[in-house]
Amino acid sequence: MSSKNNKPSSMAKKTTAANILIIFLLLSNHPYSSTAASPIKTVVVLVMENRSFDHMLGWMKKLNPEINGVVGTESNPINTSDPKSSRVLFGSQSHFVDPDPGHSFQAIREQIFGSNNTSASPPPMNGFAQQAFSMDPNMTQSVMNGFDPDKVGVYKALVSEFAVFDRWFASVPASTQPNRLYVHSGTSHGATSNIAALLAKGYPQRTIFDDLDDAGISLGIYYQNIPATLFYKNLRKLKYVTKFHPYGLSFKNDAKKGKLPGYVVVEQRYTDSKLEPANDDHPSHDVYQGQMFVKEVYETLRGSPQWNQTLFVITYDEHGGFYDHVATPNKGVPSPDGIVGPEPFLFNFDRLGVRVPTIVISPWIEKGTVVHGTNGSPSPTSEYEHSSIPATVRKIFNLPSPPLTKREEWAGTFESIVQKRTQPRTDCPETLPNPVKIREGEANEDKKLSEFQQEMLQLAAVLKGDNVLTSFPVKIGKEMTVREGKEYMENAVKTFFEAGLAAIKMGVNQEQIVKMVPSLSTRPKNP
Ligand SMILES: *[C@@H]1O[C@H](CO)[C@@H](O)[C@H](O)[C@H]1NC(C)=O
Ligand SMILES: *[C@@H]1O[C@H](CO)[C@@H](O)[C@H](O)[C@H]1NC(C)=O
Ligand SMILES: *[C@@H]1O[C@H](CO)[C@@H](O)[C@H](O)[C@H]1NC(C)=O
Ligand SMILES: *[C@@H]1O[C@H](CO)[C@@H](O)[C@H](O)[C@H]1NC(C)=O
Ligand SMILES: *[C@@H]1O[C@H](CO)[C@@H](O)[C@H](O)[C@H]1NC(C)=O
Ligand SMILES: *[C@@H]1O[C@H](CO)[C@@H](O)[C@H](O)[C@H]1NC(C)=O
Repeated sequence: MSSKNNKPSSMAKKTTAANILIIFLLLSNHPYSSTAASPIKTVVVLVMENRSFDHMLGWMKKLNPEINGVVGTESNPINTSDPKSSRVLFGSQSHFVDPDPGHSFQAIREQIFGSNNTSASPPPMNGFAQQAFSMDPNMTQSVMNGFDPDKVGVYKALVSEFAVFDRWFASVPASTQPNRLYVHSGTSHGATSNIAALLAKGYPQRTIFDDLDDAGISLGIYYQNIPATLFYKNLRKLKYVTKFHPYGLSFKNDAKKGKLPGYVVVEQRYTDSKLEPANDDHPSHDVYQGQMFVKEVYETLRGSPQWNQTLFVITYDEHGGFYDHVATPNKGVPSPDGIVGPEPFLFNFDRLGVRVPTIVISPWIEKGTVVHGTNGSPSPTSEYEHSSIPATVRKIFNLPSPPLTKREEWAGTFESIVQKRTQPRTDCPETLPNPVKIREGEANEDKKLSEFQQEMLQLAAVLKGDNVLTSFPVKIGKEMTVREGKEYMENAVKTFFEAGLAAIKMGVNQEQIVKMVPSLSTRPKNP
C-alpha cells in the first residue's frame, strides 16, 4: 500500500491519497480475506490422543533426513539438579504403553524446564525422564522411547507420500481438553486442565463451526461413542443437531456418494471394548487400532469422488508425557483472549505445549513434503499449533469473518501447500499397509473408566439431563466399568439427538439447546 516510490505531482498526490484511503477502507472491511482460490472444497480433521512428535515420528528421520527427528544421541538425566545423574538415551523400542505418563500442567512444566523455574530460554526439554521416574521408575523407559517406523507403517507411508509438519506444537502446555478446545476455536477459554464440571456445562466461545455455518459452508461431525466436540456449548444448539452423524453408519456412505460436507470432523472411539477396541492412541489403548483407523479414513477419502478436492489433517491434541527434543516456543506467543488461567498457576497462555505429530494429506501435496516452521508469517514469532487449523480453514474457504482469537490471528497457515501444483496427483496410494498388532490380549471391559472417559461420561449425563437429579452423584462414572460407561454414553447421545430432532419438527428456535428432563426410568442403573 505504500506510495513511497512514486513521485506524483501535488494534484495527483491528493487523488492518490484519497484513492489509497478508499482502498484502505475497502480492505479493512475484509482485512483477512485471501484472494487465491483453493482447489480444496472439503477439509477433514482428525485429532488423535497423547503422543509427542519424537515418540511417534522422530525415527522417520532415518527415512528422510530432512525431518527434524531423532538420531539416538538425545537423552535426559534422571535428576536434573544432579550434574552426575545417570542419563536415559532416547530409544526406538516403543511398544504398548500402560499406564498413562504424566500430563498435568505441573508435570509438563517439569518435563519442559526440568524444574518449577520457567525462566530458561529456550527451555531445556530435560525433565521428561525425571518426571516419569517420580511417577514410576519403570515409566522412564516408556517416555524415552519412540516407535520404529515399521511399527507405525500407516504413518510411514503417509509421511513419505504427503506432508509431515515437524514444527507443530500443542497450543497449551496442558492436558487433553484445553488443547482439543483450541482445534476448532483458537482458545481454551482459560482452561489449563480437564475440569469435568465445566466441560459438561459446555465452553461458551465462538468456534470455526459458527463461522463456517454463517458463511453457508456445510459441516459434518462423524462420531463414535460420543462427540467430544459437544464440549463446545454452541454445538449443542438445535441448528447443529443434524450435522452429527454416527461414523459407522454414515462416513463411508457419504464419502462414496460424494456427499461429504465442507468441514468434516472425524472422532474416534474413546472407549475400549472387545468388539470395538478404542482407536484414539490414548495410552493404554493400542496404537495398532489408531493406525487401523487412520488407514480406514484415508482409504475412504482416497476412494471418494471428492478426493481431488480434499485436504485431510491428522494431529495429536498433546504429547502425552512422552519426550520431545524441540524446545517449546516461549517468546511472543499471544494470549488468545486475555483470560488468565486458574490458581495456582495463573497461566497467561504465553507459551506453547510440546511438539506433536501432524500429517497433512491431499493429492495437491507433493510427495515427501516436510514443512518446518512458518518462516515468520504472519508474524515473526508465529508457529504452527492447533489454532493453525481454523486459521487455514478461514483462508481455504475465504471466510469473511475475522479470526476467532488473537492466537488464531498469530498462528501459521498452510493453505499454500496445496497451491504448488496445477493438477492433483494421480499416483497417491489407494491402500495403506496393514499395521502390526502391538498389544497382546484384548480390551479389559471391566476396568474402571479413565479420567478422560469420566469427562465424556459427565458430558453424557448433562446431555441426558441426569445431572439434575438430586440423587445423582457428582462423580458419576467413578464406579462404572468401561462396558457400562460406553453403554451409558451411547444411549445419552442417542436420546439427546432424538430429542433435538423432535424439537426441530415442533418448530423450536434453532438457536436453542434442548434440555432433557430425566424420568425415573432413565436413571442410571449403576451410578
Ligand atoms: C537430585 O540431586 C540433588 C543434588 O544432588 C539432590 O539433592 C536430590 O535429592 C536428588 N533428587 C532425587 C529425587 O534423588
Ligand atoms: C514445584 O511445584 C509443585 C506444584 O506446583 C510442588 O508440589 C513442588 O513442591 C514444587 N517443587 C519445588 C522444588 O519447588
Ligand atoms: C531460574 O533459572 C534461571 C536461569 O535459567 C536462573 O538465572 C535463576 O536464578 C533461577 N531462579 C531460581 C529461583 O532458581
Ligand atoms: C517395574 O518393572 C518390574 C519388572 O518388570 C516389576 O517387577 C515391578 O513391579 C515394576 N514396578 C512398578 C512400580 O510397577
Ligand atoms: C482426479 O484428478 C485426476 C487428474 O486430473 C484425474 O485423473 C482423476 O480421475 C480425478 N479423480 C477423481 C476421483 O475425480
Ligand atoms: C492423556 O489422557 C488423559 C486422560 O486419560 C488426560 O487426562 C491427559 O490430560 C492426557 N494428556 C497427557 C499428556 O497424558
